Amino acid sequence: MESGKLTGTLALAVFTAVLGSLQYGYSLGVINAPQKIIERHYGRALGLVPEERLLQSENSTLVEENEVHSSVVMYWSLSVAIFSVGGMVSSFLVGFVGDLRGRVKGMLMVNVLAVAGGLLMGLANTWRPHIMVISGRAVMGFYCGLSSGLVPMYIGEIAPMAYRGALGTLHQLAIVTGILISQVIGLEFLLGNDSMWPLLLGLSGAPALLQSLLLPLCPESPRYLYIRRGLEAEARKSLHRLKGEYDPTADLEEMRKEKEEVEKEEQVSIVRLVCSSLYRQQLFVALMMHLSQQLSGINAIFYYSTAIFERAGVSQPVYATIGVGVINTVFTMVSVVLVDRVGRRTLTLIGLGGMCICAVAMSVGLIYLNTFSWMSYVNMSAIFLFVCFFEIGPGPIPWFIVAELFSQGPRPAAIALAGCCNWTCNFIVGMTFPYIEALLGSYVFILFAVFLFGFTVFTYCRVPETKGKTFEEIAAVFQKGRKMVPPGPKISTELEHLKSASDA
Ligand code: GLC
Repeated sequence: MESGKLTGTLALAVFTAVLGSLQYGYSLGVINAPQKIIERHYGRALGLVPEERLLQSENSTLVEENEVHSSVVMYWSLSVAIFSVGGMVSSFLVGFVGDLRGRVKGMLMVNVLAVAGGLLMGLANTWRPHIMVISGRAVMGFYCGLSSGLVPMYIGEIAPMAYRGALGTLHQLAIVTGILISQVIGLEFLLGNDSMWPLLLGLSGAPALLQSLLLPLCPESPRYLYIRRGLEAEARKSLHRLKGEYDPTADLEEMRKEKEEVEKEEQVSIVRLVCSSLYRQQLFVALMMHLSQQLSGINAIFYYSTAIFERAGVSQPVYATIGVGVINTVFTMVSVVLVDRVGRRTLTLIGLGGMCICAVAMSVGLIYLNTFSWMSYVNMSAIFLFVCFFEIGPGPIPWFIVAELFSQGPRPAAIALAGCCNWTCNFIVGMTFPYIEALLGSYVFILFAVFLFGFTVFTYCRVPETKGKTFEEIAAVFQKGRKMVPPGPKISTELEHLKSASDA
């Protein structure tokens, strides 16, 4: 959409939407710090920790790790993992929820889940904490799967073209801010202690309350109103609210063309999206970008950073982890500034390439740690740089580029599929990393380096630039790419075309 300026209503709408992303980040990060404390409560509820031991541990002598009963370990692992399972399932429903009553009402409806999840965890001590936390995390994961699709979809549809990247990156900025907030308030002297931990977990639901108050003030996506519902007058009103007083003819004309295209096709369901050759290229790019985000190994760093720092010879691992959270937030801000100037493709390439080099450096650092003590500095710097490179491109861009790559018809289904791919890989990396680490030892990051190298090459060959293009122009890049390919695979022609289109 042309003629965009940043109005107060647009700012309010984006701020309100990303409160959902903040919640997602908070839920991702909150579970790390209080692990030992919560395990003690599980043990007590299960009758596995003797009272004297508990009294001692309340006086800050932690129950030794090897004393944690296997049932407690099982319930704890479930508390962590069930969140991703909830997200994997619900991300499939993003298209349905977004199309049902609109993006704004969709976000409003799903807040019920966030509040319920927050309450279950906040009241964990009133009944069996393990059951309460596991149910709360499942409901919260279900909520986050929906919001991590609805938020980029709404922002992508309301953002003026010139700021689509920057506003899209705010989704990731809110996620990383959520992670950072949870790391800080999870410190033991704040809420990460024996009496306050239910509040720490329960606060995950708090942004939903604020968001529910603000959402009724936000305009519905004009693209949803016009293209999906045919409500031109409503769409015009929404455009004026979002963009101020201007002539919306060009915007409406662009949407009209897209509406005509959409009407030629049937409703694009997930099955149709997967089966149709029409969207194959876009879908491939979208899924690969989400795969590259997760298989880069970023969450291995986030979930296990304290252990990784310990292993890398860092003396204050908890604070180093918070340092990672700070760097993470700062570099996402850098991306907000750069993404509409430098472009999605270039930032993704720099990010993935840089991460690949850092992963190699991390491996070298770990391998020679016992030989040269200064290698711990190499490790530390490599971890920090790894996170910086992630946040300038591979972190934020996959979240919003899917909304850019697809037109209105297939967009909800594509976002649902890409979201599900993201959640599934996140789950797989989270669950398998400790085993892979046990298997590969100091060489574990070489595995991620190999993935990263592959994704860098893929991005170079296949990802077109979407900066400064209308949705119609982006669709045209792929259509032309298709027309150029005669029956049978002729990848090089197609690649050349995509590359030249992205270079343009
Ligand atoms: C992205 C990823 C998420 C990760 C976060 C770290 O949002 O999707 O899995 O934890 O970045 O900043």
